[in-house]
Amino acid sequence: MKFIVDQQVEDIEMPENLKLNTFLQEFHSDCPNSECSFGFYGFAFGQSPFPVPKLIQEALIKNVDKGAYAAVPGIPELRSAISKYNKHYFGMDIAPERIYVGPGTKELIFNLLEILHGTVILPTPAWLGYLPQIRFLKKNYHMLPTRANKKISPNDLRKLALRLQDRQKILILNNPHNPTGLLYDRLELEEIADVCREQNIAVISDEIYALTTYDFSKFVSMGKIYPEGTFVTNGLSKSHAAGGYRLGYVIFPQHAIDLRRQFKKILATEYTAVSTPIQHAAVAGFEISKEMDEYFDVTRSIHQIMGDYTYHALTAIDGVKATKPDATFYLLADFNAFAPDLQKAKITTSQKLSESLIIHPYHTAIVGGDSLVLERTDFSARIAYVDYDGAKVYQKYLENKPKSHSEKLEFVKNNAPKVVAGIDMINNFFESLRKDSLRDLEAKKNSIIAFN
Ligand SMILES: Cc1ncc(COP(=O)(O)O)c(C=O)c1O
Repeated sequence: MKFIVDQQVEDIEMPENLKLNTFLQEFHSDCPNSECSFGFYGFAFGQSPFPVPKLIQEALIKNVDKGAYAAVPGIPELRSAISKYNKHYFGMDIAPERIYVGPGTKELIFNLLEILHGTVILPTPAWLGYLPQIRFLKKNYHMLPTRANKKISPNDLRKLALRLQDRQKILILNNPHNPTGLLYDRLELEEIADVCREQNIAVISDEIYALTTYDFSKFVSMGKIYPEGTFVTNGLSKSHAAGGYRLGYVIFPQHAIDLRRQFKKILATEYTAVSTPIQHAAVAGFEISKEMDEYFDVTRSIHQIMGDYTYHALTAIDGVKATKPDATFYLLADFNAFAPDLQKAKITTSQKLSESLIIHPYHTAIVGGDSLVLERTDFSARIAYVDYDGAKVYQKYLENKPKSHSEKLEFVKNNAPKVVAGIDMINNFFESLRKDSLRDLEAKKNSIIAFN
């Protein structure tokens, strides 16, 4: 039988994370050079390298016998633990009834986009997950390019909202931000919230990286600033290094009782409930404990050390700019100063730049600008500084916490050699590009002199 795929599916593009996987696999099978068997310097995958906290692993083992379906919004113990977690870490009083559990925040964001009417405002650059969902749901959407500081400008948001005809708009706010690693402060959030109130904009505040914030005292949830209009999403995937558990939650805005009823219908229609043993395991991850506190402290400190190194090493390359991350395990590198040299080498798009870096002799995987919802010709890239053995590095950090600048540098060199070598490769790539370009220029000059 020849199956006919529904047009709606044909119309959407392959999400970028799948594209990336396919691309890396193809690169491996096609590469004739023996050095390719080594693999690559991995700056592309957005995954925490640390082990799942022991407490969560043990709770999962203890609950393998839980075979019954769970309640649609989540088991009561989990909703209650998430409520206390939000009080403890984010200073928010959230009744458990406002919390809905789902199989990852990606799915929950999709579900929110399903129930919320209105045009979606997507600030760029953005995480590569939102756009295929918006397109799949055939929602109207507008990009909101950020300016040099890579943060939403409240004025630009107002101007865009005024142009839109919809009674309701939906802003996707990602704080802390993937791919820049930047954090919005309270004042910045208040200014955005003022525009949202004025222009009837609901906010989906994707705060999946909240607990990775290096100076955690600086993190403020949009749910605190704009409680009547914000849907906060968070989960186990990044701060708890358990993306594969597929567990996230959404906090509904205050007083949105009817909306919660509609949402429950959607969840019940689409997936009934998250796996029951996983929900029990998640309770251990959200309950307040010394172990989890230590886990968050250690992992965020290591992310910061790796992030500082990556930022300084990259920006030491003449012409490279980068965001200085406040959180997450990413930064956005800007290679646009090399645009003329890249074009001369026929590297005309960010996709081509990613391809040129992955092939021999560079073996370096990055996520290029068009996967970050930037122009195809924008030579920016997301650099994820996680290519190291998380379990080993966690242990090393506990044994001897690096304090001074030089100790931190040593720590990176000893424990994350692929991060160090990968940045050297990026340096080599641009150096050789510049040399080729200069050589071309010299050759051209000489041929003109010879001709004269
Ligand atoms: C900004 C952002 N939001 C959401 C997600 C997905 O999270 P989850 O695993 O909870 O679906 C990711 C994962 O990479 C992300 O980077």
